[in-house]
Amino acid sequence: MEIIISETYDEMSRLAADMIKHQLLKKPSSVLGLATGSTPVGLYKELIRLHKEQGLDFSQVITFNLDEYLGLPPSHDQSYHYFMDQNLFHHVNVTPNNIHVPYGHTEDIEEFCQWYEDQIERAGGIDIQILGIGGDGHIAFNEPGSSLGSRTRLKTLTKQTIDDNARFFENEADVPRFAVTMGVGTILEARKIIMLANGAKKADIVAQALEGPVTAQVSASALQLHPDVVVILDAEAGKTLRRADYYKWVYNEKKRLIPGMIGKTT
Ligand code: PGA
Repeated sequence: MEIIISETYDEMSRLAADMIKHQLLKKPSSVLGLATGSTPVGLYKELIRLHKEQGLDFSQVITFNLDEYLGLPPSHDQSYHYFMDQNLFHHVNVTPNNIHVPYGHTEDIEEFCQWYEDQIERAGGIDIQILGIGGDGHIAFNEPGSSLGSRTRLKTLTKQTIDDNARFFENEADVPRFAVTMGVGTILEARKIIMLANGAKKADIVAQALEGPVTAQVSASALQLHPDVVVILDAEAGKTLRRADYYKWVYNEKKRLIPGMIGKTT
């Protein structure tokens, strides 16, 4: 696991965008796993800038989003499909048919979840998966207690997640209670994972996930089992890590001696 503690949110976002840019230059038909929430907004802004100013090409990219609220159609302004349209898809040249966001308005959830898993497999698997981390340690909507082998399925949200996300809705009661989400097992099959976290509110859960035991009580701790994970934090989110000085030392030494290895060793 490579842990990069950057100074600011913008630096965190730029570093992640740079890794995606290199992936797309190496393989223009890359399969990207994408996340919603406030954390990756800066990353998406930077990708849009790279597209507009440097011609970064998304025309062959295939995308899979992590999750979607149950009951919200793609046109709903709080659906994750809508979020992705507004924050990324409408501003780059991604091919609409290559976009996959779990469908929250589906009739047969089990059939849909299996279809979603099959589509990921048919696309050849996810090359880079972007993740945020929830205040309760969730990745996607894998709330505490989610099996570390779980696949795409329906999940009930925790009270903490509902409270965290209530800021986007008029009333807490409007926040959907269920979501369709990729499982922890689905996420762990991505070839590379980049997890982002910023702000002091995330510091304790980040420390639990990265330096605590691997446990289904903190879904993000499962990333310790993956051979190629890069965690990029801002200074606030990284401030309670016990080995923060060591991670910074590693990063600076790499930057000094072998800059090409940043984001490539675990
Ligand atoms: P946030 O959400 O980016 O809005 O903090 C992260 C998450 O819940 O995964």
